[in-house]
Amino acid sequence: MHADPLRLALLYGSDRPLRFCDTVAAWAQARATALGGWSIQRLDPATPAGRDGPTLLRRVREADAFLVVTPEYNHGYPAALKGMIDAVYTQWQAKPVAFVSYGGMSGGLRAVEQLRQVFASLHAVPLRDSVAFVNARDQFDPDGGLPRDNPAHEAMRLALARLHWWASALRSARLLTPYDAAA
Ligand SMILES: Cc1cc2nc3c(=O)[nH]c(=O)nc-3n(C[C@H](O)[C@H](O)[C@H](O)COP(=O)(O)O)c2cc1C
Repeated sequence: MHADPLRLALLYGSDRPLRFCDTVAAWAQARATALGGWSIQRLDPATPAGRDGPTLLRRVREADAFLVVTPEYNHGYPAALKGMIDAVYTQWQAKPVAFVSYGGMSGGLRAVEQLRQVFASLHAVPLRDSVAFVNARDQFDPDGGLPRDNPAHEAMRLALARLHWWASALRSARLLTPYDAAA
């Protein structure tokens, strides 16, 4: 447990009705809460706040780190997620991004590779560590639980630990020298 929680924004990738994103994101949020060290808020394109430019800008500016939970559609990530990313610009800078992906047989890995390029172009810091659910619906219980022996629990722990390291280091660095001053 940390005395000074870092601020984690949880981005929902899908805005589809009856989306599986709710199940995966709820699991990821519960894992982050249980491991501690974060205060968490959601950025969800299915909500009015998730489509409101000034609200998104404020929430991204306040965040120290991002956890993106995204499905893959036709080898890419959803337009709704790109809409949230593009609504904000400098507020992503010098902050780390980790990924939880899900889908069919690719587990969303191609969507995440594309997102790494997008976030790098925004001067964010995409992490290598990620969690991917192949055939995601088969892995979760009907009530949204994930069996204890699922390797995603440990993968999520590792990704969150590395995300926390980067979030802490980059928060200190931003306070010492604003990122724009490095140009
Ligand atoms: C039109 C369509 C295309 C899809 N393309 C892919 C794909 O390229 N790779 C993959 O892993 N899963 C693919 N899937 C499976 C989705 O990732 C899966 O249904 C997921 O649950 C969608 O997320 P959502 O329910 O949160 O919107 C596709 C599903 C649909 C309906």
